[in-house]
This record gives sequence, C-alpha cells and structure tokens, in this order.
Amino acid sequence: MSKQSNPIEQTSSPTPLLNKVVIVGLGLIGGSLAAALKQRGACNEVIGIARRKETTLTALKMGIVDRASADIADFAGELGAGDVVFIAVPTLTVASVLKDLKAALGRDVVITDGASVKGSVRDDVIKLYGEFPEQVVLGHPIAGSEQSGVEASNPDLYVNHRVILTPMPENSVAAVALVGAMWEQVGAEVLAMDVDDHDLVLGATSHLPHVIAFSLVDTLAHDSHNQNIFRYAAGGFRDFTRIASSDAIMWRDIMLANKKSVLEAIDLFSTNLARLRTAIAEEDATTITGVFTRAKAARDRFTKMLMNQAYVKTMQDNQEKHIVYTVAPGGTVKGNIRVPGDKSISHRSIMLGSLAEGVTKIEGFLEGEDALATLQAFRDMGVVIEGPEHGSVTVNGVGLHGLEKPSGALYMGNSGTSMRLLSGILAGQKFATELTGDVSLSKRPMNRVANPLREMGAVVDTAEQGRPPLLINGGSKLKGIHYDMPMASAQVKSCLLLAGLYAEGETSVTEPAPTRDHTERMLRGFGYDVNREGNTIRVKPGGKLTATNIDIPADISSATFFLVAAAIAPGSDITLTHVGINPTRIGVINILRLMGANITLSNEREVGGEPVADIRLQYAPLKGIQIPEDQVPLAIDEFPALLVAAACAEGTTVLTGAEELRVKETDRIQAMADGLKNLGIQCEPTEDGIVVHGGQLTGGSVESCHDHRIAMSFTIAALRATGPVVVNNCANVSTSFPNFVDLAKEVGINLEVNIVN
Ligand code: S3P
Repeated sequence: MSKQSNPIEQTSSPTPLLNKVVIVGLGLIGGSLAAALKQRGACNEVIGIARRKETTLTALKMGIVDRASADIADFAGELGAGDVVFIAVPTLTVASVLKDLKAALGRDVVITDGASVKGSVRDDVIKLYGEFPEQVVLGHPIAGSEQSGVEASNPDLYVNHRVILTPMPENSVAAVALVGAMWEQVGAEVLAMDVDDHDLVLGATSHLPHVIAFSLVDTLAHDSHNQNIFRYAAGGFRDFTRIASSDAIMWRDIMLANKKSVLEAIDLFSTNLARLRTAIAEEDATTITGVFTRAKAARDRFTKMLMNQAYVKTMQDNQEKHIVYTVAPGGTVKGNIRVPGDKSISHRSIMLGSLAEGVTKIEGFLEGEDALATLQAFRDMGVVIEGPEHGSVTVNGVGLHGLEKPSGALYMGNSGTSMRLLSGILAGQKFATELTGDVSLSKRPMNRVANPLREMGAVVDTAEQGRPPLLINGGSKLKGIHYDMPMASAQVKSCLLLAGLYAEGETSVTEPAPTRDHTERMLRGFGYDVNREGNTIRVKPGGKLTATNIDIPADISSATFFLVAAAIAPGSDITLTHVGINPTRIGVINILRLMGANITLSNEREVGGEPVADIRLQYAPLKGIQIPEDQVPLAIDEFPALLVAAACAEGTTVLTGAEELRVKETDRIQAMADGLKNLGIQCEPTEDGIVVHGGQLTGGSVESCHDHRIAMSFTIAALRATGPVVVNNCANVSTSFPNFVDLAKEVGINLEVNIVN
C-alpha cells in the first residue's frame, strides 16, 4: 500500500489538559476509552451517553463513567473549552448524533469520532454545518475486536494501538492537539492521514477481509453439503473466520459508508480469485505455486514484523530496535562448522535462475536479508520461486524476456549487490522500475552503474549525487559498449555484463584488477558464452540461459570471522567446511598466511563450477605486515575482520589501495578506526586505508554503524580483549549471516544478545 500515514507533529507547547470527556455510545470502543481515561486519571470527569438505560447503568456500575444519561442536552450547559465529545456510534449513526451536538454545544467544545470510515462522516459534517467547523476532528482508533458491548470495555484496548486522525485544513491546531493528547493519554500512537487515503487503505486491509469472512461463513453455513462444517472445522477455518463474529450492523454500515473503496477492493480480489480458479481448473501448478509462495512470503514477513509487538506496530519500529551484543573477554575457538551459503553466488543464482528457461534447483542458498531481497524482487516481477526451505530454492525461470512489471518499487534493503546487479537486468526490460533501499543503501554511490548504463542507452534517474532511489526507465534500446572500469568492482562488472545480454552488439568490460568472477562462471553454467581475455570480459546478446542445478558453497566472507577468531585466540583450532575458495575470493587466506597464520586446505573439489575446500586454522602468533595491494580486491569484504587480526598482531599492519572500503555498507575504514581506538588500539586511518599498531585490546563499547561485518568483527575481537566488548546496532548481521550468534556460541565465543528499544 503506497499510502503513508504520518505521525502527528508534536507541538512545542505542553500537553493540552483535558477537562471533561463526554463519550456518546458506550459500546466496546466508547466504553474502552471511558475505562482507559478513568483508570489513568487522564481527565477530570468522564460522562457517558447511551440510548439504552441499561447501558448507562452498567457503565456506572462498572465505574468507567462518572455520570451518564441518554441525552447530551443534560450536560450541554456545563461543557466548554478543554472538553471533548467523542462519538462512538456506528458510522451511519454519526450524522444524527452530530445534529444533536450541533444544537446543544458551543464552538469551544471539541468533537471527535471513532467511525471506521471517514469520507462519509466528513460529508455529513459539511452537510450539517455548511462548511467544515474548526472544532470537529475526525479520527479512527484501529483497535476493534470481535467482542462488542459495554461489558467488553477494556482499559488497555488502545495501548500500543494506532489512532489515525484525519484532520481537515479547517481544523484548529489546538483542537487536533487536544484530541491527539486524549488518545496518547490512553497509550495509543497517534498518526495523521488524509481522509480519502484512510478510506482506501482501510477498504483494502480491513473492510475487504470482513466482507470475505462474513460471506465465506454465510456460504458454508447455508450449503447443505457442509451441514457439519462447524463440527469438523479445524484451526484454519476458525482463524480465518474469527472476524465474522464482529458486530453485524456496525460492519453493514461500514460497507455502505465506504462503498466506493470496498467495491474496488472486492473487484480486485474477485479478478484474482477467478484467475486462481482457472489455474486450479487447468491444473496449472506453476501459477498456483506462484500465488501461494508469494502469499506465504508476504504473510511470513508480516508475522516477523508482528513478533514482539502489538499488531499495529510497523517495520520501521523494528528497525529502530537496537540489537546489542555483549561479548565476554577471552577464550578459544574450537570445532568443525559450516557457515551459510555464499552471498554473492546466492544473489546470482536467483537472478540467472529467473532469467533462464526451465526450472533451476538451488541448494545452500543464503537465507540472509540481502539475498532474500533479491529473491523477493524477482517474485515481485512475476517469477515463481519455491522456498527457501533449509537452503533449497526452486526457481521457475521465465526466460530473458519473461519478467513482468512489478506493482511498486523494488525494495533492496541493505543490499548493494541486489541494487547494482538488478539495475543491469532492468535496463534491458520493456518496463520502468524503481529501486529503493534502507538508510545505509540510500547513501551509497549508484552512478558507478548508472553512468555506464546511460552510455549503453539506458535512461536512469537517481537522487542527488547518484544516490538511490534509482529509476530505470525500461524500454530503451541498449547498445553494447566497451567499459574501462575506474574501480575494481565485481558489482559494476556484473551489472554491465547482465545489461549486455540485452544490448545490440558486444559488451566488454576491463577491470583494473581481478574481481570476483561468479557472474561469468554462472553465466557459463547456464550455457551462456562469456569470453575473457586478460582483464577484459565480453558477452554478446542473442543467447539464452538454460536452467541448471546450483550447489552454493559456504561463504568465505562469513568463514573469515571464525578464521580470524582462531587466528587471534591462543589454543584455537577450527575447521570450516565446504567453503568456496574461488581464486578471486581468497585474499583473506593469503593475507592471514602472510601474517603467520597456520592454515591448511583439504578436501579440495569443484562444486557446480566453483572450487570448494575445508579450511583449518590452528592458532599461531600473528605479525604485522604491509598488505599487498593486489590482494585488496580479493579480500575486499574481509578487511573489518582482518583489521582485528592486525590489532592482535605483533608490529604494524599497513593497508593501502582500499579506498573502496569507504563506500561499503558504512565507511569501513572510519568505523574500524573508531572502534579499535575505543578498544585501546592505536591506529591511523588514511584516505585509502589504515595503519594499525598491534597491541592489547581492552574492553569497551563500539558502534557497528549498522554494518553487519563491522558488528561481527568486533564480536570476535573480544577473544583477545581484557574486558567485555559491547557491540551496538547488530541487527544487520542477519543480512549476510543469520545464524552467526549460534555458530559463535557453538565454537566457544561467550556472547549475549540484548534488544534495546
Ligand atoms: C560483491 C562485490 C563487492 C563486495 C560485495 C559483493 C558482489 O562489491 O564488496 O559484498 O557480489 O559482486 P564491489 O563490486 O562494490 O567491490
């Protein structure tokens, strides 16, 4: 849903004071507000108005109102500034209550409501007053339940739930602030939204599910074949139809009041249901799988979002949660472990699998957020992808020209690889796409791919200074170019080679130094011709990718944290199994060996075009070195951990030619320099590297800058520290290494995870 709600702006003035709150309608919504205000002593008096005498008596008996009556006129004379009247009656009854209020109250009394549809109430207000009055503030607490009646009143109903206010331009700021304050007093989070947006969003997310639930239960209850349905119905039916026992009249009114948006939502749903019907009738398993896997992925994401929070909190709140690692000092690491699948290869397996003809089966897929962002992007472009399930993924390829326009922007999360490689593929499509990312990705340079793609004829827009979001206006005719890469980047190289599949004529890229060649290897694995001569790689258009099976080795970049852990902790002995040792990725082994590490490779073999081995590291003291510049691109992701090794080595380590580290998920040179200094290590960052003087690490607190590799590097540093190391903001570890904490504990790192709000 693209419609966004915004937090109500905080005014600098103190919270407005509520005097009397009159609640018209003492059902679940009104009664709960009364109970909440009373329980919290949030106003001077709560007055209840209800048509039925029994209701007022019950409310008085329950102690949720101070006074009650059937007629607002009984209190009208005593109401004035600082008082609020809340209308909590069914949507279509709001107009008649408003009529009474208009007759009885002065303009200084603020009126608000809780109806689930706002457009019809707005129209009623204008009809009644002739114009929208400043003191009527429309609102909607999103806190229903299938229970109803004053007896169901719950003083905590609104805690951590959202209340959407839909202020009108005519409203006075003070009136909106007073209503907002009332809701905040009872624990709600108050947001503002446009009236029409509200009705559209609620029509799809709340009103449509109610239509379906009511209709489904009605259908089954009256179907003679299903007489026994309720007797045999299990959890699925019960969960799915819970909302069909909501207040029938209230929901009837909501449907009528929000007719336009509800009809739109029903039409869209009916079309999709009919499509699914056809797929089932025609035994079209792929389409059915597509619908179900997309839905499952969406619902699983939603479930994750709901964990640890009331159902009204958002993804964004989740990002605001800080995960903090507290790592005890000292220890050794021992064991035999397999780290998750290679991130670079996982991305490419989804991309090429999707563009291939036929079904590609992937094993060892990295179920980290980055690779999942790529997977979701292809699902959003109509590719049916089954899994991931314990690292297995099945991709039903659609061919080079089979992608469909996604319905919204493709969200790449934290993943630069997803954004840069995808932009090459998307430049070759007929449709336009927008690529967005999280805060970190939104700061990273994209002109490195946008500029050469423009040279190829693509129309690419970026935000200021070439930052995301990227808008790739498909439909351009691409032409092959030769590109001399100014930096050693596998992402740029891969982006251009992938665009080259769609270009007219040959595309060639020259790299200033060898960078990871997974794209080239995998293209060949899919039967596509890729030619390399020296530092230049060439592709021609017109070929096709043929589905294949892919076995993804463990990621040497993830293995690195345990290699360095063993390399710095005396007495350690660790074996990492099935690790990818592609020659373009083994800088870390070469550098650690130069520093004196004792590394042995065994069981060397080739798996699906990629060399793989078991890597054993037995502790031996390290010494500082000048890191050879030709190793830098081959270990580009491993420097955060390698700098921890440097801090524990005897002597000085000098890194140069690594300016690329400044534009990774964070400025990794600065982040490592800051953290190492906090832990008592002397180091000097330079423009293209860092000088680290080996020494004694102390305990302390470090900032990961939301960078997964910085977080994991400082975690292992504790093995040689004299006190506990606290690593802040570790949530992004899940982008590349979702089970890092478990494996770290398994090999002997003493680590505690805390969630801080
Ligand atoms: C990657 C290439 C590297 C690397 C990144 C993954 C890839 O980035 O740092 O983690 O999968 O192609 P650059 O191309 O920016 O060096």
